[in-house]
Amino acid sequence: MGQKITARNMETKQLGKSGIFVSAIGLGGMPMSIYNRPPESQSIPVIHRALDLGITFIDTADSYCKDESDKHHNEQLINKALTSYKGDISQVIVATKGGLMRPNGSWTRNGSPENLRQTIRVSFEALGGAKPIDVWQYHSPDTNYTIEESLTPVKEAVETGLIRFVGVSNFSVEQIKQARDVVDIVSVQNQYSPWERQPENDGVLKYCEQEGLTFLPWSPFGGIRRHQNLQDIPAIAQLAKEKGVSVYNIVLAWLRSKSPSILPIPGASKISSIEDSVHALIVTLSDEEVQKIDRAT
Ligand SMILES: NC(=O)c1ccc[n+]([C@@H]2O[C@H](COP(=O)([O-])OP(=O)(O)OC[C@H]3O[C@@H](n4cnc5c(N)ncnc54)[C@H](OP(=O)(O)O)[C@@H]3O)[C@@H](O)[C@H]2O)c1
Repeated sequence: MGQKITARNMETKQLGKSGIFVSAIGLGGMPMSIYNRPPESQSIPVIHRALDLGITFIDTADSYCKDESDKHHNEQLINKALTSYKGDISQVIVATKGGLMRPNGSWTRNGSPENLRQTIRVSFEALGGAKPIDVWQYHSPDTNYTIEESLTPVKEAVETGLIRFVGVSNFSVEQIKQARDVVDIVSVQNQYSPWERQPENDGVLKYCEQEGLTFLPWSPFGGIRRHQNLQDIPAIAQLAKEKGVSVYNIVLAWLRSKSPSILPIPGASKISSIEDSVHALIVTLSDEEVQKIDRAT
């Protein structure tokens, strides 16, 4: 591949209808904070390299940590990387989340208004406390509470200037509509990969496109445990070989072909991973190639 992606030629996309433009590919922060995480001396250069490449959208969560005692680890790491970065960070948007707990390293939902009110405050501090949280996403709906109950403290946090924009995650179309009755949202983050194609069938992707919401596909490569299996999908491996790019680039190009609303947030804990992933922005697939992957996955 001759062309290289840099901060100068990075493609941008509008975040929802916010009027804010961010890089057309983001960085997922989770692998830098959960089990088997690398030392900070490895992670901070990964974030710095992403910024050098022109990435201006970073996804995180209060729960990207090892357990409850380690809560907000990833937000603090990102804040440390941003404040130690020598370049311009004025356009960088950090999208965090709240609503999941990590007792003994497990993942449980807690959408109680008290918990959300408290975690928003701690996220605000963990991200530096100097400006509102750019994007706060409700991580996963907790059915012990109505969406209105859970999102009311979020709406209040917008009104008091703790949060700038709101997103939702792991929501159905019906739940997104309920959320929008409470507070404006800019983004929806649901699982979408060659193995998890539900957004194509449950109406969420189409709804996002119609309504001008950004769709953030999580675990685009199947996640930390499964990403190495992409090589085993022959249609993807063959296209990668033909085009002289990685299987990761093929998957990201395939996802991006699905809707203009899509903004992938591949996770990385190595510089080589994010360097490779940004190059997916210059990989294009024909309709026939997209269908070939569709049939194989
Ligand atoms: N909303 C939710 O419920 C939810 C759930 C899960 C994830 N997420 C978000 O979505 C983001 C992405 O998902 P994910 O991190 O779980 O999984 P993923 O992006 O599917 O896969 C991440 C793994 O793929 C490897 N990788 C990435 N790009 C690569 C490349 N170009 N070449 C080689 N290896 C590459 C990384 O390896 P290295 O670590 O070695 O760099 C990393 O461990 C997360 O980081 C998080 O921000 C949200």
